Amino acid sequence: MKRSLGTCYYPEHWPEAWWANDAAKMVETGLTWVRIGEFSWSKLEPQPDRFDWGWMDRVIETLGSAGLKVILGTPTATPPRWMLDKHPDMLAHDKEGRVRKFGSRRHYCFSHPGYLDECRRIARILSKRYGKHPHIAAWQIDNEYDCHDTAISYTPNARMAFQNWCAARYQSTDALNRAWGNVFWSMEYDDFTQIDLPNLTVTEPNPSHVLAFRRFSSDQVVRFNRAQCDEIRKYSNAPITHNFMGRITAFDHYQVGADLDISSWDSYPMGFLLDRVCADQAEKKHYLRQGDPDFQAFHHDLYRATSSGRWWIMEQQPGPVNWAPWNPAPLPGMPRLWAWEAFAHGAETVCYFRWRQAPFAQEQMHAGLLQPNSEPSSALAEAAQVAREIDALPEVGTARARIALVFDYDSAYAWETQPQGLDFDYFQIVFEFYRALRKQGLSVDIVPKTIDASSYDLVIAPALLTVPASLTTAGHLVIGPRAGSKTEEMSIPEEGVPNIFGLAAQVPYVETLPPFASIAVDGGGAVTKWRDHLLGDGALYHCDEGAIALRQGKITYLGGWPDPAFLRRIIQDACALCDIPTLDLPADLRLRDTDKHRFFFNYGPKSVVFQGRTIPPAGVLWTTLS
Ligand code: GAL
Repeated sequence: MKRSLGTCYYPEHWPEAWWANDAAKMVETGLTWVRIGEFSWSKLEPQPDRFDWGWMDRVIETLGSAGLKVILGTPTATPPRWMLDKHPDMLAHDKEGRVRKFGSRRHYCFSHPGYLDECRRIARILSKRYGKHPHIAAWQIDNEYDCHDTAISYTPNARMAFQNWCAARYQSTDALNRAWGNVFWSMEYDDFTQIDLPNLTVTEPNPSHVLAFRRFSSDQVVRFNRAQCDEIRKYSNAPITHNFMGRITAFDHYQVGADLDISSWDSYPMGFLLDRVCADQAEKKHYLRQGDPDFQAFHHDLYRATSSGRWWIMEQQPGPVNWAPWNPAPLPGMPRLWAWEAFAHGAETVCYFRWRQAPFAQEQMHAGLLQPNSEPSSALAEAAQVAREIDALPEVGTARARIALVFDYDSAYAWETQPQGLDFDYFQIVFEFYRALRKQGLSVDIVPKTIDASSYDLVIAPALLTVPASLTTAGHLVIGPRAGSKTEEMSIPEEGVPNIFGLAAQVPYVETLPPFASIAVDGGGAVTKWRDHLLGDGALYHCDEGAIALRQGKITYLGGWPDPAFLRRIIQDACALCDIPTLDLPADLRLRDTDKHRFFFNYGPKSVVFQGRTIPPAGVLWTTLS
C-alpha cells in the first residue's frame, strides 16, 4: 500500500479568501488528506437547531476540488456554550466533586444521557448531509478521549449509570457483596441504589469497588463512541476513526477500536518526553530535541492492535508544542524521522498537526507547518521531502513480528488502584520490556491478552492481573512479576498465587522496594520496585535469598521488576531459546523490519555507525530485505 500524508486544518480560523491558496499549497507539498471540523460545533450550529452549512459546504468543495481527501470530525469534544443552557448538568465532576467548567474543551460527562443524545443528533445530521459526499473520505469521532483526564467523572448521572452497570453485572447485591468482599468494614449493600462512586471516602475505598468503577468508566467511553459510529454508518460508507492519545490507560482502547475501521493516534514526541516519559534528567537532556526513541514506537505497535490492523497518525508534532512544561524545537530531520518510523510500523497515513499556527487562543504558541503569517516553518520542507520519498518508495510493507508483548487495560486499572509500592506502574513495566526488546533490534507486536498466542514464538506478559490459559500456548511465555495474583474481581485467588495454568509455583508473599533499594541478581543486574518470593521447581535466576525466576517447560516466571541489565539478560536468554536473533545496537539506534525493508532510525544528536552504515543525526535509512 502507498503511504500518504495529510494535515489538520481549521478553516474557521482563517478568512475564506485564504482557503483556495491553502488547499493548493497542501497539494503542492504532497499532502493527500486534510482533517477538518472536529472543534467547529459553534460555527456549524450557532443556536440550537439553527445550522450554518454554507461555509462547511464551501470549504469541503474547495479542499476536495484541489485534490484533497477530507476527514470530517464530529465536533463533540467542544459542545458550544448554548448546550449548557440546555443541559446545565452535563459537565463532568472531578474526583474532589468539583465541576469542570466551560471555557476550554472536553467539558462533558460521558454518562449524561441528554448530551449523548445531542452527540447522536449531530453525528446523524452531519453524516446525512455529507455521508455520500465525494470529497468526504473518512470520519473522525470526537477528539482524544480522556485527554485532560476526562474519561472518569463523578457526577450524579455517572453514579446512577454505575448503579445500573453494577446491577447488570452482579444481578444481586448479595453477589456484589461477595465479589467485592464487602463484609470487610461493614460495607454491605442491600439495594443497588445505595452504591456510590468510589471518591471522597474517608480512607481508601474498596479496590474491587474502584476496579468496577474503572471498568464502568471505560464502558461509558465505548458506548459514547459506538453511538456516533452507529449513526454515521447509517448514512456513509467512509471509514471511521478516532484519534487516541499517548500514555492513556483510562479506557480500554481495544474495545473502542473494535468499533472503528481505522485506529489513529496523536504523536507529540517532544511533548511526551518532558510531560509523560519516565527517564532521568541526563536521558531527557540527550533526547530533548528528538523525543524518546521508544515511546512513539510503543504506541504505534499498541494502537495497530486496537483495530483491524489499519492505523494512522492523525496528529504529528511539526515543531515546538505549547503544553509540555518546556517546549524545545526538534532537531532538523525529526519531523521526517517520526513520519517514517510510523510508516515502518504500518501506519497508512501521517497527518501533521496543524497546517498553520494559530495567532490566538490557547495554542498560539504551538507550531504548524506554516507560521501565523503563512510563511513556511521548517517542518513544511520535511513534509514535502517525505512526500517525495513516498513516491520513490511506494511499498513499505508490513510484517508480523515473532515476538508479542501483552498490554492489558484491566491490569492497568487494577495496579493503578492497588500499586502496593508508590511507583508500581503497569504502563511503565510493559514499556520497559518494550524498550529492552527494541534496544536489541527486535520488532514487536503488542497484543491483548486474548490473542491466539500459539502463533507467536515468544510472548511476554508482565504484571497481568489474570492469566488466560490460552497464553500458555505460545512457543514460549515469559510472565510475571505479579502475574495471576488476583481474581477478576480483585481478590486473592483461592487456587493460590500465581494462578497460571501449567505452572507449579507459589508466591507465599511479595514485597515492594523504594527507589533507593534493590536486590542484586547473581550474574548481573537487579530487581527493583517489586519482588515475588518464589517457590517451585526450575529455578533459573537467583538472588541471595533464592530464586528470582524459574522455568517450567514453555513458561518462564519472573519474580520481580527487572532493572535494564537484568531485563537484557532475560530477553537474550528467551530469544536464544526461541531461536530469535538479537543485535547489539548503538544506544541511539533503533530498527524496524517490515516484510520488505529494514529501517534504521538514529534518535541521537550525533552520527551513528552500524554494520558499515553511517546514519546521520535524526537520520532514517532503509535497506531491502532479501
Ligand atoms: C492534541 C489535540 C489537538 C491539539 C494538540 C496540540 O492533543 O488533539 O487538538 O490540542 O494536542 O499539541
